[in-house]
Amino acid sequence: MKNNIILIGYMGSGKTTLGKKLSFRERIAFLDTDKMIEQKQGKAVSEIFDEEGENAFRQMETDCLKEIMGYSDRYIISVGGGLPLKEENRMLLKELGTVLYLRARPDTIYGRLKNDTTRPLLRGDDPEGKIRTMIQIRGPVYEEAADVIIDVDEKGYETLIGEIIDLVKGTKQ
Ligand code: S3P
Repeated sequence: MKNNIILIGYMGSGKTTLGKKLSFRERIAFLDTDKMIEQKQGKAVSEIFDEEGENAFRQMETDCLKEIMGYSDRYIISVGGGLPLKEENRMLLKELGTVLYLRARPDTIYGRLKNDTTRPLLRGDDPEGKIRTMIQIRGPVYEEAADVIIDVDEKGYETLIGEIIDLVKGTKQ
């Protein structure tokens, strides 16, 4: 197994923000699978969904993890909210390092994402209902994929970074 730190969780759970802050504090480089895919494809995730469909995007996520498997440095990796839903991806995540699930309640997520236009899966009517239903389905899958669960509701970034740094210290450097 490799020794990366991987952040999983629903959209808006703080993976990218926390990952970047953690990267700066711990001096470990940061990777974001959505950003890697956007750079490779030359377009935004929402455009990939519109032009090529969700299945094509899901394959790009698997390809992205396989690419990271070939890297030799240690990274903090934020992955797209849907990436752990595929079993092959969960196996790759386990190989890649310690998986931390940033668990958030639906109301926390809705509060953060209600004005967001970049998430193709939340477009249309009743985004709050969509969030609730998706979290119900995805929650157990995230839990299965995770080595550690971190509840993020009502905690500031400093508190969360402290918790994660303590956890990371316990993992292989
Ligand atoms: C998705 C989450 C997004 C992005 C895409 C699909 C999902 O990433 O990969 O819009 O299925 O939950 P974030 O979790 O970083 O927003």
